[in-house]
Amino acid sequence: MRIGMLTGGGDCPGLNAVIRAAVRKGIQHHGDEFVGFMEGWRGVLDNVTMPLTLETTSGILQRGGTILRSSRTNVKKVEGGLERCVATLKTNGIDALIALGGDDTQSISVELAKMGVKCVGVPKTIDNDLSGTDVCFGFDTAVSIATEAVDRLHSTAESHSRVMVCEVMGRNAGWIAVTSGIAGGADVILVPEVPIDIEDVCRLIQYRYDHGKRFAIVVVAEGATLPETEQTAVGSKLDAFGHVRLSGIGQELAEEIEKRTGYETRSVNLGHTQRGGTPTAYDRMLATRYGVAAIDLVHAGRFGRLVVLRGTEITDVPLEEAIAKTRTIGEDLLAVVRGLQPLKG
Ligand code: F6P
Repeated sequence: MRIGMLTGGGDCPGLNAVIRAAVRKGIQHHGDEFVGFMEGWRGVLDNVTMPLTLETTSGILQRGGTILRSSRTNVKKVEGGLERCVATLKTNGIDALIALGGDDTQSISVELAKMGVKCVGVPKTIDNDLSGTDVCFGFDTAVSIATEAVDRLHSTAESHSRVMVCEVMGRNAGWIAVTSGIAGGADVILVPEVPIDIEDVCRLIQYRYDHGKRFAIVVVAEGATLPETEQTAVGSKLDAFGHVRLSGIGQELAEEIEKRTGYETRSVNLGHTQRGGTPTAYDRMLATRYGVAAIDLVHAGRFGRLVVLRGTEITDVPLEEAIAKTRTIGEDLLAVVRGLQPLKG
């Protein structure tokens, strides 16, 4: 078969590992040929490609980013965009298309599938917010980076008797915040799923100081909000999928904490460091399993589906199911966070 591949949306560690695994299994076991479309859906729209061979995909397992580059191109917003994509796939003789991406990228696959394109999806996002799968590749690496940052903040916070607020990514889901916060032993963990109770934040910090500590660590998700307020963003410009650029709640919070407690408070925003660099062993493994599973799905003729991890098994679900809603954190993890904190009152 002749198979197209693309990586769309925000990049994340492990994209290259998926590409490598799919290409190796496809070429070596099925005699497939691969065409890589550059910069996500933009490459399909404008027919910009690179050959994906055993040679061009060699040595990329541990490389961060994506050799296919990425973009947030929304072909649904381009007049005749979907039709142009179908035409490009035809021109390149593509029998099936594997799209690596989150909900925005997969929403285009869903539209193309309706037009007869044989699509298979692979769940990518550090946000870990795709429904249908327990884990997206890239998440583990982002959490490792954030946890290391929280660890490092402990010593400098202690030296200077400061409160340190660490802002992490995750869009509207608190997976990175809650996981790195628990793993890093943060005193306060704030997520988009629960509005920030600033009085409670200060109570938790004060409790720590009352019990002999002279510093505290707060982890806040970029999408967390104070009650009755909008998410904090840089400017009001929306990307092609209608998202604002979330950033800044950490600094806002730091100012408020300092004002209310009198303790010197600083903020650090980890930003894109969470998406950069080499994937963890866990992400290399998961990405490789996803890549092999994606090619197997293509050869089983099971299209319009996303490869997913359920428990320890790789399986697949309809693409529509994966994008139906954002998978946010549940009460079980929030209970762990609360369980580590002193009771109110
Ligand atoms: O979806 C991944 C993500 O890193 C989010 O956590 C974040 O809100 C967004 O992408 C940032 O996007 P960009 O790189 O386009 O600024």
